[in-house]
Amino acid sequence: MSGQFRLAQISDTHVRADDGGAAASQLRRAMAQAKEYSADVILLTGDLVNDAREDEYAVLAETLTDPPTPLYLMPGNHDDRGLIRRFFPQHTYMPRDGALHFTIEAFPVRMIALDDIVPGETHGLLRRSGAEWLESALSVERTKPTIVALHHPPFLTHDLLFDKIGLLDAEEFATVVARHRQVLRIICGHHHRVAFGQAAHAPVIVAPSSSWTYGLAMNDGQQIAPRTAEQPGWMLHAWTAAGGIASHFIGL
Ligand SMILES: [Fe+2]
Repeated sequence: MSGQFRLAQISDTHVRADDGGAAASQLRRAMAQAKEYSADVILLTGDLVNDAREDEYAVLAETLTDPPTPLYLMPGNHDDRGLIRRFFPQHTYMPRDGALHFTIEAFPVRMIALDDIVPGETHGLLRRSGAEWLESALSVERTKPTIVALHHPPFLTHDLLFDKIGLLDAEEFATVVARHRQVLRIICGHHHRVAFGQAAHAPVIVAPSSSWTYGLAMNDGQQIAPRTAEQPGWMLHAWTAAGGIASHFIGL
C-alpha cells in the first residue's frame, strides 16, 4: 500500500437549479483543481444542494457524471437522504436506509463518514446511535491512520449563530474520539468559512464552502451569517507515512 494519500474535501456546494449554474460551476472548478493536485479521492461533506429539491439533485448528478477521482457524498442539513440515494444509485457504499454513515477502506488513510444531520433541523446531533456506530467503526481498525468526517463542527467557534446550530452533543463525540488515537484529523463544513478547533486529541478543520463565505458574528448586535467577499474554496488534506498529515486551503 502506498505511503502517500491526498484527500480533496469539497464542502457546502449548495448546488441550485436557478442560479445560472454558478454553484455547479464552482464544484466543477474545485474538482479540476483536485485533479491538478493529484487527489486520490474527493469527499463532499454535506449541503450538496441548497433546498433539498429534486431539480437541484438532478443538476448535482449531472455535474458529478464523470469525476476525476473516486467521489463520495455525505449529507448536510440542506440535504434529503432519500433523494441522495435516489439520484446516486451507483454510490453503493451508502447504506440502504437510516443514517448515511459509511467508511472508506481503499486507501492508506481510513476515512469514516458520520451522518450527524437531523431531518428538518439546522443543527447536528450524534445521538446514542451515531456514537455507537462511530465507536464500532473506529474499533474495527485501531492502528491505521484515520480521518473522521461529519457535516457540523464538533466544537464552539464563538460565532453567535453557528454555536447554536453546530453539533449539539459534541461532548459525546469527543468522548468516542478520545478512545481512538488513530484519529489524525476531524473534518467538517457547515460554517462556510475556514476554522480550526479540537475534539479530544484530534485537530478539527472546518472547510470553507465552494460557493460562498459567511463572515463572523461574534458580538451582540452584529448581523448573523453575513455573506462576505472572502474567497470560497476547498481543503486538500495531504498525508505521507513518513511526514504525517497537513491540510491546505485551496481558493476558488
Ligand atoms: Fe452549508
